[in-house]
Amino acid sequence: MELANRLTKLPPYLFVEINQKIADLQTKGKDIVNFGVGDPDLPTPSHIIERICQAARDPANHRYPETDGLLELRQAIAEWYERRFGITLNPAKEVLPLIGSKEGIGHIALCFVEPGDLTLVPDPGYPPFSLGTILAGGEPYSMPLREENDFLPDFGIIPDEVADKAKLMWLNYPNNPTGAIADLDFFEKAVHFAQQHHLAICHDAPYTEVAFDGYKPPSFMQIPEAKEVGVEFHSLSKTYHMTGWRIGMVVGNADIVNALFRVKSNLDSGIPQAIQYAAVEALRGSQEHIVEGNTVFQRRRDKLVKVLSEIGLKARIPKATFYIWAKIPRGYTSMDFTKELLNEVGIAVTPGTGYGKEGEGYIRFSLTISDDRLEEGVNRLSSWQGRSR
Ligand SMILES: Cc1ncc(COP(=O)(O)O)c(C=O)c1O
Repeated sequence: MELANRLTKLPPYLFVEINQKIADLQTKGKDIVNFGVGDPDLPTPSHIIERICQAARDPANHRYPETDGLLELRQAIAEWYERRFGITLNPAKEVLPLIGSKEGIGHIALCFVEPGDLTLVPDPGYPPFSLGTILAGGEPYSMPLREENDFLPDFGIIPDEVADKAKLMWLNYPNNPTGAIADLDFFEKAVHFAQQHHLAICHDAPYTEVAFDGYKPPSFMQIPEAKEVGVEFHSLSKTYHMTGWRIGMVVGNADIVNALFRVKSNLDSGIPQAIQYAAVEALRGSQEHIVEGNTVFQRRRDKLVKVLSEIGLKARIPKATFYIWAKIPRGYTSMDFTKELLNEVGIAVTPGTGYGKEGEGYIRFSLTISDDRLEEGVNRLSSWQGRSR
C-alpha cells in the first residue's frame, strides 16, 4: 500500500500531542480543567431540538437530501442575512448550506487551487484555511496577524508578485484564535486589494453573534463590492450552540457558490433534512438565547481575564468570540507553557503555535466550559507558581 504524497505535506497536528498528554494524566486520575476546545457547553435551545425530533419522525426526511439544501433553508438564511446585516441575497444562487462550515472551508480550495498555486492565509489562523490549500496541492502564504496591528493583516507587506500569484485570500473576523475584530473600513480595504490583484476573498464569520459589551460585528458582505470578489462562511455551530448537528452556510458571489456546489455535489449528499428544518427554526425563531449565551460568556471572559492579569499573563479583553488570546511569560515557548499549566495546575489550553508560527508566545483559552469548571480553573490559575513568579 502506498499513501499519497500529499499526506506527508500536512503539518504535524500539534493538538494530538496535547490531547495525548491530557488523556495520560486523566488515566492517572488527574482532574484536568479543559480550556482547550471551542465548543459551546450551553445546550442547543429546546425549540430547535423539538423541531429536529418532529422532522425526524417524518419519513420524507429519511431519504437522501439534495446537496444544495431545502429551498426553505436557503430562504431562511437569506432572510437572516437581511435582518441581521441588511444584505439582500438570492437564495437560489447566492446561498449554499454546508455540513458545518469547516466542510465548505476545506473543500473550497478545490474550486481555486491548482498544484503550486498560492493562497493568502492569516497566521495565526484556523488550521483548515491552509490545510485545504495543501490538500489541493497549493501553498499557503502566511499573512502575520500581530498585536501592534490589532491582529489584522497588513496588506502593504505582501509582495506584489505574491499577491498577483495568489488565487484566494482567507480572512476571519471576529477572529479565532486572537478574538480580534474588524470594521467595515478594513473589509473595504480587503475588497480593493482583491480587485487590484484579481484574487477571491473567503471571509469566515462564525463568531459574528458571539459578541459583548453591546458590540455588533459587521459582515464582510456589507461592502457593496464584496459580492464581486468573494463569499462569507457562516455557521449555526456557535450562534445556536449546534456544533454537534453539523450545519453551516456560504453566501455571496454566485459563481463561487456554484463552483463549491459543483465540487460538493460530487462528494457529498447534503445535510440530513431534519437538521435543515431545525436550522430553519433556529434562523427564524426566537433569538433570545443569543443574548443569554453572550451574557454567560461575557461573565466568564471577565473572570478569566482578571485572573490572567493577576498572574502576569497579558490578554486583551475580546469584544467578540469566546477566546482569550494570552501572552505567555518570557522564557517559555507556547508548547512549554502549555505543558507547564497542564502538569503544574491541571489546566489545558491550546498552544498558540497550533495556529501557525506567529502564534508563538501566546496561548488560547476557550470560555466554553461550565461556570463551576471555570471557577475551578480560575482558582488553579491564581495558585500557579510559575518560574517567573
Ligand atoms: C474560525 C472558525 N471557522 C470555522 C469553524 C467551524 O465551524 P463549524 O462547526 O461550522 O464547522 C470554527 C470552529 O471552531 C472556527 O473557529
